[in-house]
Amino acid sequence: MEQKPKKGILKDDENIIKKIYSENIHREWNRLIKSPFHKLEFETTLHFLEKYLPKKGLILDAGGGPGRYTVELAKKDYNVVLLDLTPQNLEFAKKQLKKAKVQNSVKDIIEGSIVDLSKIKNNYFDAVLCLGSSLSHVRNEKQRARAISELKRVAKKNAPIFISVMGKFGHLVRGVNKIESARNYFELSLEGNDKFWGGKGYFHYFTFEELKNLVEKKVRILECVGLEGIGGASEESINKLYKNSLAWKNWRKMHYALCTHPTIVDMSIHFMIIGKKK
Ligand SMILES: C[S@@+](CC[C@H](N)C(=O)[O-])C[C@H]1O[C@@H](n2cnc3c(N)ncnc32)[C@H](O)[C@@H]1O
Repeated sequence: MEQKPKKGILKDDENIIKKIYSENIHREWNRLIKSPFHKLEFETTLHFLEKYLPKKGLILDAGGGPGRYTVELAKKDYNVVLLDLTPQNLEFAKKQLKKAKVQNSVKDIIEGSIVDLSKIKNNYFDAVLCLGSSLSHVRNEKQRARAISELKRVAKKNAPIFISVMGKFGHLVRGVNKIESARNYFELSLEGNDKFWGGKGYFHYFTFEELKNLVEKKVRILECVGLEGIGGASEESINKLYKNSLAWKNWRKMHYALCTHPTIVDMSIHFMIIGKKK
């Protein structure tokens, strides 16, 4: 059972997270495209967005950071609202939107938290995204459940909702070579504490079962996806495979065939649950 956070700690968490992300804007902007391995998260997410998004409409990109998905969706002629906790990310996103000449498709840019979307009306969006771990930065299960309620509240009836988070087991497998130095490794693996991996801000690592339990209380689950899938522990091999077009084609075929298997979802570095507002 998670303890109730001490008074003020949630605000402190937000301030630390804002500091981390404002100091790493370019790293975040490049995170999803910097290598074939990193593109797995991005391209697999886009694949499933394409599968479930309506043909057109207004989309909320909540915790959208410097706007990688916002730009991509705007290029596909969706109308988008970008929301993020870190104002510096939003300023950076504005420049990227102009550069890509898609700023007119972005209807609003809001500084705010997924835990409180009170600036936004009920039943407003045709689809809602919360991708790449914004929910993993929210301390305490009650707050995370509140964020999911808010994401649901602002979605229209039957709208798809996409939530991706950092996976506990995938990160443990990927981080095994840091076992001597990472002081949180044992805490995370044996006791389930996940506070300050890397000694920085608050990161919560989810098991699939945990996120599924949280989400299915509020929305009907359509599909669950391991975004790096079976490639999560093999960064070097994946980058090598990419250089051989036949090997890459075969790998992608296998990846998409396996990435929705519950075991693969749970072992992924990032995984996504796609739901629909009832
Ligand atoms: C890893 S980035 C993901 C950005 C983008 N969604 C992606 O997938 O590339 C996490 C983002 O979550 C934002 N964030 C963290 N906590 C948040 C909160 N409570 N509400 C909204 N955004 C938050 C951070 O500012 C950061 O931009």
